[in-house]
Amino acid sequence: MADKRFHLAWFMNFTPDEWREPFGQGGNPWDGQFYIEMAQSMERACFDLIMIEDKLMVPETYGASRDLSLKHAMMVPKADPAPLAVAMGMATKHLGVVATMSTMAYPPFMLARLSSTIDSLTKGRFGWNVVTSAEDLMAKNFGMDQLPPREDRYAMADEYMEVVGKLFESWEPDAVVLDRKNGIYADGSKVHTVDHEGRFYKVRGPLNTVPSPQRRPVYLQAGASPRGRDFAAQHADAIVSVANGVEGMKAFRADIRARAEKLGRNPDDIKVFFCICPSLGETEAEARARYDNVTMSDNFVTDVLISISAITEIDFSQYDLDKPLPSKLVTNGESGTLDKFQQWGSGKTLRQLAAAGGGGLVSSMELIGTPAQVAEKMGEAMAEVGGDGFLITTPVLRVSRRYITEICDGLVPELQARGLVRTEYKHQLLRDNLREF
Ligand SMILES: Cc1cc2nc3c(=O)[nH]c(=O)nc-3n(C[C@H](O)[C@H](O)[C@H](O)COP(=O)(O)O)c2cc1C
Repeated sequence: MADKRFHLAWFMNFTPDEWREPFGQGGNPWDGQFYIEMAQSMERACFDLIMIEDKLMVPETYGASRDLSLKHAMMVPKADPAPLAVAMGMATKHLGVVATMSTMAYPPFMLARLSSTIDSLTKGRFGWNVVTSAEDLMAKNFGMDQLPPREDRYAMADEYMEVVGKLFESWEPDAVVLDRKNGIYADGSKVHTVDHEGRFYKVRGPLNTVPSPQRRPVYLQAGASPRGRDFAAQHADAIVSVANGVEGMKAFRADIRARAEKLGRNPDDIKVFFCICPSLGETEAEARARYDNVTMSDNFVTDVLISISAITEIDFSQYDLDKPLPSKLVTNGESGTLDKFQQWGSGKTLRQLAAAGGGGLVSSMELIGTPAQVAEKMGEAMAEVGGDGFLITTPVLRVSRRYITEICDGLVPELQARGLVRTEYKHQLLRDNLREF
């Protein structure tokens, strides 16, 4: 019988938990313990990986001020994902840990060295979410006045991938000899400079770390524009996406696979994960009531608008909440996210857009019901899409222990009982687990 299994991943960030809500953890996760325990729950449920989102700025687009972001703790405070990935990796044995790092922020040598180190620390379970950043506010923290246009960011990123690729290869796999008797640690004839001199980067090499278990981390990417999709299809081991319903998911995956094939890659080496935000309850009515309760609250609508304003650099506070947007909006920032959000032509008011699909920002399809109902729907959707997996998250990425438990102890066992997801880890390396099915 054909293997109908798909992969599970979780998308979160190192920000306060659901601190305002009755089942929150209080908003003080900075010693990492809350998220370390979250990673352990993911591992118990046999998730492939946990992925940590990141941005490098304090948002101040919504209402032209940072006050509301700070008041709501929306996208700020946000701590560095790399040390958290290490902490989560050291407290687990099988789970992949993925940190977001921007090609606009790290010199390639630093990123390659950091990734190699974390991959060794986690015994081959590190992944890098490759982003090119989307905000002028970010650029101003890195010596620029504004972000280069998307095309240029991707041109830089293409060269960036070439450089880090060369650095990861700068030690031959057997360069470390570790011959104690003859006193040889590494063989100098197997460690090479990379001597890269391109349009944007100049790097001599070699890298000063040993080859890590995966040699290079697993690459994740989320390109949505045609340029971004080509970039992702060329480089990524896994692609994360927010699509419009099952048809949108199917079309996106087919498009990525076609691009990969054109670029000479085996499409099966790329796993496409679709973001979802399941809302669970003892009964469907209870799940629906909980969902409405969350998405209709003023706090939720403001949280979503702060968030979408930050990543598109469009101030949504200028628009009437109870009217449709006056015109189709464009951005040099996250265009795919903006297009998905504004549902141009749907006639929905801004408030309805904010509430739609659990915030619309991160939900590819509606999943509201009992664990059994949601598991059934996920299985049907994946069968239609053709495979790969889901990236579970919440509308504004915040979590509570209760929600984690609902997914790991409610939904996942239902998926496992249907033979839809893994029940054990077969491999040590994250890349091998991703390619298992
Ligand atoms: C699920 C998902 C996760 C993303 N995570 C991040 C992130 O952590 N940091 C970031 O700067 N951008 C993030 N992005 C934005 C993408 O990297 C990309 O810029 C965006 O999807 C727009 O694609 P485009 O550049 O092709 O227009 C994410 C996008 C998606 C769909």
